[in-house]
Amino acid sequence: MTGSPHSTTVFPHRHLLGIEGLTAGEITTILDLADGYVEQNRQPSKKSSLLDGRTIVNLFFENSTRTRTSFELAGKRLGADVINMSSDGSSVKKGETLIDTAMTLNAMHLDALVVRHADSGAVKLLADKVNCSVINAGDGHHEHPTQGLLDALAIRRRLGSLDGLIVAICGDILHSRVARSNIHLLNAMGARVRVVAPPTLIPSQIDRLGVEIHHSMATGLKDADVVMMLRLQTERMSGQYVPSTREYFYFYGLDYEKLAVAKPHAVVMHPGPMNRGVEIDSEVADDLKRSMILDQVELGVAVRMAVLDLLTRDPNSNEGRGTDV
Ligand code: CP
Repeated sequence: MTGSPHSTTVFPHRHLLGIEGLTAGEITTILDLADGYVEQNRQPSKKSSLLDGRTIVNLFFENSTRTRTSFELAGKRLGADVINMSSDGSSVKKGETLIDTAMTLNAMHLDALVVRHADSGAVKLLADKVNCSVINAGDGHHEHPTQGLLDALAIRRRLGSLDGLIVAICGDILHSRVARSNIHLLNAMGARVRVVAPPTLIPSQIDRLGVEIHHSMATGLKDADVVMMLRLQTERMSGQYVPSTREYFYFYGLDYEKLAVAKPHAVVMHPGPMNRGVEIDSEVADDLKRSMILDQVELGVAVRMAVLDLLTRDPNSNEGRGTDV
């Protein structure tokens, strides 16, 4: 799946801080390039020397399995040197500020800094202080742009196009950076987005983002092409948002009965980590005909390769690129 009308678009950004503000053409450029990297990642020999000599630091102030590992693999498969840092093992624990940490790393001549932080806006603050490209790996409940991009790539590869699809994003919308990035991206690409959750988990004024609000899975999933489930993000909650996880599963947990009102070909997605039996039933999560959860993980590496490529490579070099941008 290569070659779109937009695939020759130049990517004009130094950082990737969010999906908001990217055009459909720029999103398509990233997805087209990532498609090529999917094939590279499926070969026995996965490495190229495209980013030979580049230095990438993964700076994670919150836990991660998928994002950190896939950024590390992405950088290494493109031939870059990749360093992983977490707040636990850094001088942040001795009281160093986020900005001082960033300025310290900046002095070591990095090419890209991949940052996850619990505070919305922290990654932008840091991007304003450094010379290298900064990639948002998730900041508070603001955005998680590479998750939105990999979700889009998974949908596009399975269903052909995003344009005109009905996508139901279900669960803890209030605390979800994944929901925000997906809403911006899906709207830009012509999909129709519904958010489905109890009133306590819907942010006020979310309708301004151009989504339909549903409080019932029966109406929210009706005729949907894509059902995207989200975890209850208890680490970002202060207070009680649902009566109990048992009751939450009864009304909002995805099982075959609730999925039955979606289109017959509807696919199921989850960014992970999953809480089985809370927002999704194990049978649905593990149904390889419907569930794209492991496809999402696979495509995450390719999308992060495309992003690192676009933001850090020598613009005069064409060597090893997945597709022509
Ligand atoms: N989807 C996601 O961001 O997962 P991790 O927290 O494991 O990186």
